[in-house]
Amino acid sequence: MNNRTLAIIKPDAVRDNVAGKIISKIIDAGFKIKAMKMTRLTNDSAGGFYLIHKNRPFYNDLVEYMSSGPCIPIALERENAVSEFRKLIGATDPNEAAEGTIRKLYAKNKAENAIHGSDSDENAAIEIAHFFSRKELLENYNG
Ligand code: CMP
Repeated sequence: MNNRTLAIIKPDAVRDNVAGKIISKIIDAGFKIKAMKMTRLTNDSAGGFYLIHKNRPFYNDLVEYMSSGPCIPIALERENAVSEFRKLIGATDPNEAAEGTIRKLYAKNKAENAIHGSDSDENAAIEIAHFFSRKELLENYNG
């Protein structure tokens, strides 16, 4: 399956009140919203989500930042969702992100970078399951 990805509008972007603008860009780029919620992650949930980065020097700061306020996880659908979404959001570091990308427009720096996108189909499935039950995904199915 190569048609789903997980986005998270991160706490900095929610705080800055740009979630609506970001969602508009995502929809304009041809993605369909399959499920979406606003939620505040606990330290445990943020730590679990980013477990893959456990040994990185920025892990503790990342967990603290991701649990610092509400975020908006969104399950998205589109052909080649993972790669197309990564193109739309741009490089992790906004200084390296292409013009017009979401991170170029809204990220503050490499850490507070406005939005997350899954990096593989396998991780997309795991990450979507972190936030949404099968029931939620099916109930929201609209073709
Ligand atoms: P994301 O795409 O969600 O995946 C891992 C996150 O860790 C990344 O976005 C940033 O928020 C953060 N991150 C990645 N690299 C660094 C870094 N060098 N320093 C601080 N935070 C980082």
